[in-house]
Amino acid sequence: MHKKSLIVANWKMHLNTHQASTLVHRLHEHIQHHRDVEVVLAPSMLTLQPISVEVDRRRFRLSAQDAYPKDEGVYTGEVSFAMLGDLVHYCIVGHSARRLYFEESNDLIRDKVSAAVRNEIVPILCVGETKTERENGEGRAVVHAQLTTALMNLTSADIENIVIAYEPVWAISTFDGIIAKPSEVQEMITYIRRQIADLYGPKAAQDLRVLYGGSVNEHDARDYLSLDGVDGALVGAASLNYKQFSEIVAVAHNVQVEKASR
Ligand code: PGA
Repeated sequence: MHKKSLIVANWKMHLNTHQASTLVHRLHEHIQHHRDVEVVLAPSMLTLQPISVEVDRRRFRLSAQDAYPKDEGVYTGEVSFAMLGDLVHYCIVGHSARRLYFEESNDLIRDKVSAAVRNEIVPILCVGETKTERENGEGRAVVHAQLTTALMNLTSADIENIVIAYEPVWAISTFDGIIAKPSEVQEMITYIRRQIADLYGPKAAQDLRVLYGGSVNEHDARDYLSLDGVDGALVGAASLNYKQFSEIVAVAHNVQVEKASR
């Protein structure tokens, strides 16, 4: 069986409860249900609970955008993976915004990945190099360190239940036209799979779902999704617009049909 395509809407720190609910309603109306595409919504922590009540779980799965690695305790202001267990299927871990604005280290991200797996939540682990790192020729080394540290505590069985998102930091939310070339994405995703093959064997590397993220919109989605080894997209800005996001899901379905007939 062909792997399902995974399209994740990362709403970041946008939308209050009312706005999130309106968007979910629109997505219900506009997104066609395709068996070969899994659509995941990642609302803010505040709106996760109300959205979980109204969303049709047969059509959309939910993801948190982050969580705290300890299961419970004195960690004022935090929400744990254990608390999210009934609400979400996925949790984004190590998003570049967390690494950048909240100074999350590879070690902390490793603990979050372990906590997600321990609580049966699928981590969507984000990796990617910054502009300077790329310019210095350190892109691969950075991604290698991010991957090997984050996955350190996982067994091969655990690897079946994780998702990796390659997000070059220099191509995220760029409104100045700087986007990653499909060939650059292809190269790094092949590299990521090779790392997984070295650590966990070729089957794990083949079964693993790897997403691309970074300014994906309804126009460029096809270029990324049709690449070999790209199993979906992590969409930020364009996921806040129901028309754009619905179109991306439609493109994902078309690409799946084409890939299946190859
Ligand atoms: P973007 O965000 O699509 O706005 O670049 C991607 C992301 O948040 O991961």
